[in-house]
Amino acid sequence: MDEFYQELIRKLSGVGINSPRLEARLICAQATKSEPSQLTFPLTPQQKAEALKLLQQRLNHKPLDKILGHREFYKSDFLVDENVLSPRPDTEILVEEAIRLVEQNQPIRILDLGTGSGCIIESILAECPNAVGVGVDISPKSLLMAQKNAEQIGVSTRLKFIQADWFDRSFVQKTAQTFDLIVSNPPYIPTGDIQGLDPEVKNYDPYIALDGGADGLDSYRRIAELSVHLLKAGGYILLEAGIGQALDIAGIFQRQGFVLKQIVQDLSHIERCVILQKPVAEIKKDGI
Ligand SMILES: C[S@@+](CC[C@H](N)C(=O)[O-])C[C@H]1O[C@@H](n2cnc3c(N)ncnc32)[C@H](O)[C@@H]1O
Repeated sequence: MDEFYQELIRKLSGVGINSPRLEARLICAQATKSEPSQLTFPLTPQQKAEALKLLQQRLNHKPLDKILGHREFYKSDFLVDENVLSPRPDTEILVEEAIRLVEQNQPIRILDLGTGSGCIIESILAECPNAVGVGVDISPKSLLMAQKNAEQIGVSTRLKFIQADWFDRSFVQKTAQTFDLIVSNPPYIPTGDIQGLDPEVKNYDPYIALDGGADGLDSYRRIAELSVHLLKAGGYILLEAGIGQALDIAGIFQRQGFVLKQIVQDLSHIERCVILQKPVAEIKKDGI
């Protein structure tokens, strides 16, 4: 095996990186501007210098996708940077379930609360050609990234973005319409747990994308209130849940009159996606 490549693998495993061989290959591919499968050794001195620069960032625990500037999620490649949460494989289950619920050619309207890179709503729209969507985020920089991704994936003509804080009193007026489906992966880490997260997460994902308040559930409580107004009767809401949160989340929405349809586990058997439905009979709308 090439000596330089071996050295990268050694250094990566020395700081506890889980897939040092794969990451070394991806770093070399980026440094040589080649496809990982087409990579050839030895690297030129300039390419080695570039690879070492990338390696140093990884040794400082910058996530590889943020070094490379993009990440695969569901069936597409998404641009990522420090302004967006890195899309996680765990979230693909929410996309799969949403696509399963939406009959593929239905002309439905979807709301994504906390759109980030746009990975959820854009993956759904790519599979459902007659659906349209709105992506909301508090972060203007994440919306710029989501817009670029929408263009790259070819869904930008069916997707609008709104910059807004869902805790604002005027949120419903800003959104100004109702939806057949709401999807959301809101921040859900309890504030006190953030310091204990891996450096890849706590130092490189935006804090606003992580912090779910004292018990991690602040955003779910607010989204439940808002969904009473924003979801059409009979419409569905799909929420990503952190470990051990699914039943609490279901309870929050049930108290607002929603009906729990299913809790879906991810591949690690963690209850990851909570699916609720708004009953066809009108829910009483309190002031919000
Ligand atoms: C966990 S990230 C999810 C990002 C993306 N949907 C995904 O699944 O990868 C949560 C997102 O919610 C946004 N957010 C946090 N608080 C918000 C608020 N009060 N109003 C609107 N968006 C908010 C963050 O900026 C972040 O993009």
